[in-house]
Amino acid sequence: MKARAQKAQKRLKRERQGFSTTRITLRSQYFSQRYKIFSKYDEGVWMTDNAWFGITPEPVANKIAEHMAKTRPAGKRVLIDAFAGAGGNTIAFARSGEWDQIFAIEKDPQVLQCAKHNAEVYGVGSKIWWYEGDCFNIIKTKLAQIAKTQAVIFASPPWGGPSYNDDKVFDLSTMQPYTLHDLYSFFSKYTKDVVLYLPRTSDLNQVARYAPEGRKLEVVHYCALCAYYGDFSYATGWPADEDESALQT
Ligand SMILES: C[S@@+](CC[C@H](N)C(=O)[O-])C[C@H]1O[C@@H](n2cnc3c(N)ncnc32)[C@H](O)[C@@H]1O
Repeated sequence: MKARAQKAQKRLKRERQGFSTTRITLRSQYFSQRYKIFSKYDEGVWMTDNAWFGITPEPVANKIAEHMAKTRPAGKRVLIDAFAGAGGNTIAFARSGEWDQIFAIEKDPQVLQCAKHNAEVYGVGSKIWWYEGDCFNIIKTKLAQIAKTQAVIFASPPWGGPSYNDDKVFDLSTMQPYTLHDLYSFFSKYTKDVVLYLPRTSDLNQVARYAPEGRKLEVVHYCALCAYYGDFSYATGWPADEDESALQT
């Protein structure tokens, strides 16, 4: 009885401090996959609780980096990672050595510190130009020119928390805090070459609605899905018959 009361008191204390039981469970679920997420985890990778949830696991990030480099439009050698998080995708793009410049934007200062630090752990810190702040504002005020002429935009936005998984078909018009329309309509003002990393169960009719008229849109399933809008050359650059099941997490 005493033990149970002590446990309840501890839980109450945790909740008062802002830690809910769900949050602790969530973190430990991802923590157990830490080496899948970052193979160099033990070399000093930094994370925050929120970053665990949103990060792209290293094998998936490497595959996306490879596909984007192989299929990107001619002359596009600059990449803007609009939602850098703790660096999962940004680091993979930098490690590929395929881009002349990589710009990475993250609005949460703590998470950005993690990304910068993690890029150092992977030896690519000096290959990335970092911006702290809102990607919509930074692209508009600082990167508009380069985005319009030389860049592709990669965006892995927040999906609104773990509940995105509850729906059989995920409605991208209700995605929080940015809907598919918010994202595509903004980024496409700067470049039509946009890759969006979205929930695996995303409504494909909604994804297809933004495909350029008369053009094919490539959607690739990793552990989530990537929609490749614009002039990515699926016909010539796409690696044939790859087994993406190896990338399930
Ligand atoms: C799904 S996570 C990105 C994960 C990242 N691709 C990775 O592998 O580490 C989304 C990130 O976008 C950031 N974010 C949300 N709104 C933003 C905005 N308007 N501008 C820049 N970053 C934003 C969040 O703080 C979060 O770290």
